[in-house]
Amino acid sequence: MELRLGDTAPNFQAQTSEGEIDFYEYLGDGWGVLFSHPADYTPVCTTELGRTAQLKDEFAQRNTKVMALSVDDLDSHKGWINDINETQNTTVNFPIIADPERKVAELYGMMHPNASDSMTVRSVYIVSPDKKIKLMLTYPASTGRNFNEILRVIDSLQLTANYSVATPADWKEGEDVVIAPAIPDEEIPERFPKGHKKIKPYLRTTPQPNK
Ligand code: BEZ
Repeated sequence: MELRLGDTAPNFQAQTSEGEIDFYEYLGDGWGVLFSHPADYTPVCTTELGRTAQLKDEFAQRNTKVMALSVDDLDSHKGWINDINETQNTTVNFPIIADPERKVAELYGMMHPNASDSMTVRSVYIVSPDKKIKLMLTYPASTGRNFNEILRVIDSLQLTANYSVATPADWKEGEDVVIAPAIPDEEIPERFPKGHKKIKPYLRTTPQPNK
């Protein structure tokens, strides 16, 4: 069944480079990022996994655990991780699922036969602590992802989960945010005591409330 935003992220058990893992147990009460790679020993994937490892502290600050998937087997992953560590000057510090039977890849719709019938596309799922899918991204094999964008979305999701705001185009942590349309003007001073601007009746901004 095709997954959609707001669906419960399906749980699974899988062999990974860090042993057998239950996805929900691994995530615990925090946020999660599950992302797929077309194949081991490929150049773009090598840079993506290295970049993810380098961003370990950024993910930890956001109470977010990452898990990668590649349809190759564990032996292949082990050798490839050595290459990633060597070439990207880092240490892979998160599990990579070995999915040669494509069980998890099929569960999460990571196989796109019109793109490739043997490799996954570059999927990204962000999962909230209640195990709901909050973001889905799909990139082709030829385009490496922007992991700063993934962190930026986590910042937005964590902010908007706690305050009645939304984040505008290109927003970054610390910048002004948009007040949710459902909030009546008269409630704004109490709910957003840092002040606000009413640019249009439907476009009201306020400093980021949790900064
Ligand atoms: C890569 O990760 O470099 C890659 C994988 C599949 C097709 C093209 C590039």
